[in-house]
Amino acid sequence: MKITFYGHSCFAVEIAGKVLLFDPFIKHNPLSSHIDIDKIKCDYILVSHGHQDHIADAPHIAHNNNATIISNYEIIQWLKKQGVAKTHDMNIGGHWMFDFGKVKCVNAVHSSSMPDGTYGGNPMGFLIESSEGNFYYSGDTALTYDMKLIGDHKNIDVAFLPIGNNFTMGVDNAIIACNFIKCNTVVGLHYDSFPPIVIDKEEAKMKFANAGKQLILIPIGDTIELNKKL
Ligand code: NI
Ligand code: MN
Repeated sequence: MKITFYGHSCFAVEIAGKVLLFDPFIKHNPLSSHIDIDKIKCDYILVSHGHQDHIADAPHIAHNNNATIISNYEIIQWLKKQGVAKTHDMNIGGHWMFDFGKVKCVNAVHSSSMPDGTYGGNPMGFLIESSEGNFYYSGDTALTYDMKLIGDHKNIDVAFLPIGNNFTMGVDNAIIACNFIKCNTVVGLHYDSFPPIVIDKEEAKMKFANAGKQLILIPIGDTIELNKKL
């Protein structure tokens, strides 16, 4: 799978011939000012919760690409009112087979109001299974024991986890989350974008390494390729 980082919590993951874009917040992220959102190609946009720093560019990029937005019921109702044409609403505990593989919505411990204050349902994480590998995108979340359920039932090749602290779990809790989900390869998200979540990146990588795990921090705009573990 090919992973491109667009800053904050936004990644494009190319898997099974489709591009899945997660939590687009690019135009108003000063760290992502060199990214032209009109050049981003995707087939699906997955939105973990309603906060501005996860949904801001979703309607625009969906329109550009005629992409389908996948999110919870309340967020999809809100997006439809913004004119988003193609949607698939889900909720925690459910899964659906798409043309690239399976999406299961899992619990996230956070909040989820929309940018205008509308109720945004519950925040979610996504577990993606495909022929090219499995990954877990946790969204904004605290460390929660529910992550053990994921690790007990699925082999995860890579996990996208927040490491910025303050609004979500930080590095130390993300390392514990790795043990719960039984995955030692992590792509970090939700760090450096705002003053309260600026982190020491070298220290973070060292802490993961000392725990026998790998923390991958992708420069904004760069793409990496990860292979399925056998
Ligand atoms: Ni949030
Ligand atoms: Mn956030």
